[in-house]
Amino acid sequence: MYTEYDSIIDSLIEKMSLDEKIGQLNQITGPLKDSQIEDIKTAIRNGQVGSIILASSSTAGNDPQGHVNIELYNELQRVAVEESRLKIPMIYGRDVIHGHRTVYPIPLASAAAFNEELIEECYRDIATEAASDGIHWTFSPMLDLCHDPRWGRIIEGPGEDPYVGACMARACVKGFQGKDLKDKDSIAACAKHYIGYGASEGGRDYHRTEIADATLYNYYVPAFREAVKAGVATVMSSFNDISGVPVTGSKKHLTDILRGKLSFEGFTVSDWGAVEQLQKQGVAASRADCAKIALEAGLDLNMCDRCYIEELKDLVLNGDVSEETVNTAVKRILRVKFAIGLFDRPYRENFAYDKEKHLENSRKLALESMVLLKNDNVLPLNKESRIALMGPFTHEKRSLLGSWVLDGKENETPSLFEAMTNVLGRKNFYCQSNSRFYDDTNYIYPNADVVIMALGESNLATGENRAVSDISLSLSQRELIDKIHATGKKIVGVFFCGRPMAMEGVADKLDAVLYAWHSGSETANAVCDILFGKAVPCGKTAVTFPRKSGHIPLYYNVTSSGRPVDCYYNENPANCYLDSTPTPYYPFGYGLSYTTFKYGEIKAQNNSILLDDLKAGKNIEISIDISNTGEFDGKEIVELYIRDRVASIMRPIRELKQFKKPLIKKGETINVNFSLGYKDLGL
Ligand code: BGC
Repeated sequence: MYTEYDSIIDSLIEKMSLDEKIGQLNQITGPLKDSQIEDIKTAIRNGQVGSIILASSSTAGNDPQGHVNIELYNELQRVAVEESRLKIPMIYGRDVIHGHRTVYPIPLASAAAFNEELIEECYRDIATEAASDGIHWTFSPMLDLCHDPRWGRIIEGPGEDPYVGACMARACVKGFQGKDLKDKDSIAACAKHYIGYGASEGGRDYHRTEIADATLYNYYVPAFREAVKAGVATVMSSFNDISGVPVTGSKKHLTDILRGKLSFEGFTVSDWGAVEQLQKQGVAASRADCAKIALEAGLDLNMCDRCYIEELKDLVLNGDVSEETVNTAVKRILRVKFAIGLFDRPYRENFAYDKEKHLENSRKLALESMVLLKNDNVLPLNKESRIALMGPFTHEKRSLLGSWVLDGKENETPSLFEAMTNVLGRKNFYCQSNSRFYDDTNYIYPNADVVIMALGESNLATGENRAVSDISLSLSQRELIDKIHATGKKIVGVFFCGRPMAMEGVADKLDAVLYAWHSGSETANAVCDILFGKAVPCGKTAVTFPRKSGHIPLYYNVTSSGRPVDCYYNENPANCYLDSTPTPYYPFGYGLSYTTFKYGEIKAQNNSILLDDLKAGKNIEISIDISNTGEFDGKEIVELYIRDRVASIMRPIRELKQFKKPLIKKGETINVNFSLGYKDLGL
């Protein structure tokens, strides 16, 4: 797919000087001040800039960022395509992670929607908005599976399951890149952080990981493999080391696996400053060493730390790095520049799009992402009842958007208070409306029949470099829950969170729990749709909810131990903790609806199959009848798990292999089919 222009690229490379080649491998940050513009133009004119990252700091998801400025980008591009010797356009990248101007749910929430088509549609919207602002390339999707909710970046990924990870990879890449990367509303995607970053020890960001090959291939690789299959243009290497080898400098991971086994044809980019970090990580003695190790490992574009531009020339002239290695990296970068049509259309222009439709999609995805974790006959609420709203997230807007929001606007985001006021008016709706001095610890709203508590964690507690050692709800929120619980009123807890939080001692004091996540621009409206029965909840957890931090790591797809045997999620606590119940508070794949579903018997068309037939393309056909036995039409996520009972290595007790999410009308029974083939059953 990316090799189509190789012969044109080869002749272009022949014309390039060594400096110009190395310039293509250099990504700089855009001008932060007007005074920097002339220097940047000079560098571009001299062919020293291959790419610009439109971010002003290395942790862009948590720092305020400058606004996108398409006029400036076009002017800089003009210098590249009119004033540089070979007129090669630059590629502009920005962290458009889960939304651009319209913000969609954080990826961990989207994963809970188990709805690939909808995710793809939303990521199409995101690409459209970003492309209209002159952005060519996003550093997304983030595909780091994770077992540790203390890690702030768990919010950016698909959760704990390789199959869900692969589905997210496919949906996001197809959404961003559209039918044709050259289309004006498509942007290049970047599968990151390759690879194993989610295994950072103790959830501490940027830390070491220990990943054996079997785990690497069976657990961490599948999402990246799927991204490559979906045609992802670029891959970002991760900060972490794997068993002492930083991925930024690992030929095994960047070349042997990514290029050799996965057949990736686009270019790789380092994470911010990761090339020079090889020295800090203790595998390089100098910046020159860093450049040599990274380039020779297969790292093509150097993000921001200038190691390549400053060191590679001498390395090549001294014979320490071959010019052929430089050429290979240049070629891969040019492949993507050609594939996205930069040579034909270097300038970008604002174009109109249907913002209302995007908000609608954002609301749909938010609705499908939210998970009803508990409901003791309280929800949906009757709008006529007397309802109080309290808790620290009552007037919150920014956190609802989530981390990694560079261009979405807090002031365009309704708070839960505003959204509820819209639905209920102020009659029989009790809430302090003054958000500046908002403190409701002294209110118990004696007239209310039901209290909605808006709880959770700030977006600033999540994202890059935001690990926590304890996934409990804050003490003040737990005390507030205790206080309202003591009144005997019905309580609905709405949780605005990025990660799964420890719900022991919390959920048991609530009558209903809606996990709303940080679900983007329409979070509060979607919560209201669910609370008041306009929508029926249909999300399920894509990550395990441990009871307490001390149980981390806890995830569903573990192998059986020899003692006790077959103990899914430690449900037989022998040999587990002496001081606490070891099972999760909510398992992977869990979520309630307002309606009820009855599962029939699982039927397999063929109970056994020969390996040769499987290899030849024959499948195992499985089906099940599912009836909607409740009072509402509803969508049900039907999850198909397998277990490989005897294999060359131990296999998980349960492994998700496929899912479907049909809408089943009340009273209706439908037949859901699955088909498993050789690839689904292999390891
Ligand atoms: C993050 C990446 C991000 C990059 C550019 C890094 O610190 O790890 O996820 O894409 O910065 O902003």
